[in-house]
Amino acid sequence: MTTVAIIGYGYWGPNLLRNYMELPTASLESGCRVKYVCDLRSEQLARAQARYPAVQTTSSFERVIDDPEVEAVVIATPISTHHPLAAAALRVGKHVFVEKPIAASSAEAAELCRLAAGGGLTLMVGHTFVYSPPVRKVKQIIDSGELGEIRFVTSQRVNLGLHQKDVSVIWDLATHDLSILDYWLGDGHRAPQTAPAATPHGHGATPDDVVAVSVTGRACVRRHIPDVAFVNLRFRSGVVALAHVSWLSPVKLRRTVVVGSKKMVLYDDTAADEKVRLYDHGVHYTEPTTFEEFELTYHTGDIVAPRLDTTEPLRAEALHFLECVETGRPPLSDGAAGLRVVKVLEAAEESLRGDSCLVKVEPAAECGPHLRAAGGGRGEPAAGGGRGEPAAGGGRGEPAAGGGREEPAVAPDAAGSRLHVVESDAAGATRPPDRSDRSVRP
Ligand SMILES: NC(=O)c1ccc[n+]([C@@H]2O[C@H](COP(=O)([O-])OP(=O)(O)OC[C@H]3O[C@@H](n4cnc5c(N)ncnc54)[C@H](O)[C@@H]3O)[C@@H](O)[C@H]2O)c1
Repeated sequence: MTTVAIIGYGYWGPNLLRNYMELPTASLESGCRVKYVCDLRSEQLARAQARYPAVQTTSSFERVIDDPEVEAVVIATPISTHHPLAAAALRVGKHVFVEKPIAASSAEAAELCRLAAGGGLTLMVGHTFVYSPPVRKVKQIIDSGELGEIRFVTSQRVNLGLHQKDVSVIWDLATHDLSILDYWLGDGHRAPQTAPAATPHGHGATPDDVVAVSVTGRACVRRHIPDVAFVNLRFRSGVVALAHVSWLSPVKLRRTVVVGSKKMVLYDDTAADEKVRLYDHGVHYTEPTTFEEFELTYHTGDIVAPRLDTTEPLRAEALHFLECVETGRPPLSDGAAGLRVVKVLEAAEESLRGDSCLVKVEPAAECGPHLRAAGGGRGEPAAGGGRGEPAAGGGRGEPAAGGGREEPAVAPDAAGSRLHVVESDAAGATRPPDRSDRSVRP
C-alpha cells in the first residue's frame, strides 16, 4: 500500500485527489491510500474534509513530510513553490509527483533531478497530455512511420482564459505543447517500449530536440504579463513548429497539425469525437530534368479517424506514478522531461524579452534519461488505465486532459489573495517569481 499526500488543494488539486481516491487499486501491486491533504487555506481544507472525511487535512507541509508513513507527495501548488516543496520532500526520502511545469527555472529543475537520482526516488512531472488517448494515438502514428518524414507542426491553444497574475501565457499554456512535442518528437522517443529500432521518418532511433526558439508576444490586458504568444521552435532534425497560445480568443481551440512527407494528422482536443484524423493528403514534387519542366502532384486520399480509448488522462497519470513508485521504473514524464520543457520555456521568455531574437537551447546534463533503477527502462503507462485493465472512462465534467484553467467558469475563488507579485523587466516579459514567494514554508 503506497501512502500518499496531496499538497495544494486549489483549482487542480481536487482533480488529483479525486483520481487518487478512486483509483482501481486492484490494478496496482499494493494499492494506494491518501493520508493527507495539505493546503495553506483553511477553507480549501474544509472542502476536502467534507468530501473525503477519512483523509486528514493539515496546513503543515512539515507534518506531512515528517510522517514516516507517507511515501509519496503529489504537489499541485503555484509554480514558484514547486522546487522548495519537491526538494524538501525528496531530501527526506519521499517520492514526488509535481505539477507542470516542474519548476520555475532550469536550475531548480536540474536540482530536483539530481536529488531524485541521488536518493533513488521517483520524480514525475504532471505532463498530463502525454497520458491522454489522442496524444498517445498520434505518437503511435508518428512512430509507425505512416506520416513519413515529419516536416512541421502547428498548434493553437487559445481561449478566453483565466489571466494569471504570476506567469505569462507561455508558462501556463505552452508547457502543454512543449511536453507533447517532447513526447512525440523529442527525448520522449527514448522510451524503449514505444520507439522502434529505426523508423523511416527520422524520429525513432534518434530523439529530436528543440535547439532554438523565437517568440513574438504581447501583453494585451495586464501590463507585463504576455497573454498571447507565437512560439517558434526549431528542432535539431530541421523540423519546425509553431505554438500559438493565448488567453484572448472568442473560441476555444486546441488544434494541432503534424505534417509529414506522406500523410498529415489533425489532433483536435475540443472535438466531441474523432479527435484524431489521419489525412492521406500530400504534395509530391518531381525534380525537373529540363529547364521548363517541373511537376507537382497533389494527392488527396482517405481521411481516417482512429478509434481512441477512453481512459481519463489523470487516472492514467496517477496509476503510472504509483506503478513507478512500486517498481522503481522511471516515469514517462520524468524529471528530465520536466527539465527539457523548462529549458525551452526559459529560452522562450528570453526571446520575448529580447525582441523576438533567436535563442539557442542547450541541453542540460540532467536532460537525458533519468533511470532511477539500474537497468530499468522508462515506463509507458498501460493502455486502458493500468495493467491491462479495460479503460476507465468518465471525465466528470473536468476539462479534457490538462485542460485546467482554461475556462473562466472554473476559475478558482479568492484568486487575488493567492497569486504572486510579478517580476517583470522593461521589455514587459514576465517570468515566474523566484522561490522567495510568500507561500513557501522553510
Ligand atoms: N496538468 C494540468 O493540466 C494542470 C491544470 C491546471 C493547473 N495545473 C498546475 O497545478 C498547479 C496548481 O495550479 P492551481 O490552478 O490549482 O493553483 P491554485 O492557486 O488554484 O491552487 C494552489 C493551491 O496551493 C496552495 N498552496 C500554496 N502554497 C502552498 C504550500 N506551501 N503548502 C500547501 N499548499 C499551498 C494554495 O493555498 C492553493 O490552494 C500549478 O502548477 C499548475 O500549473 C496543471
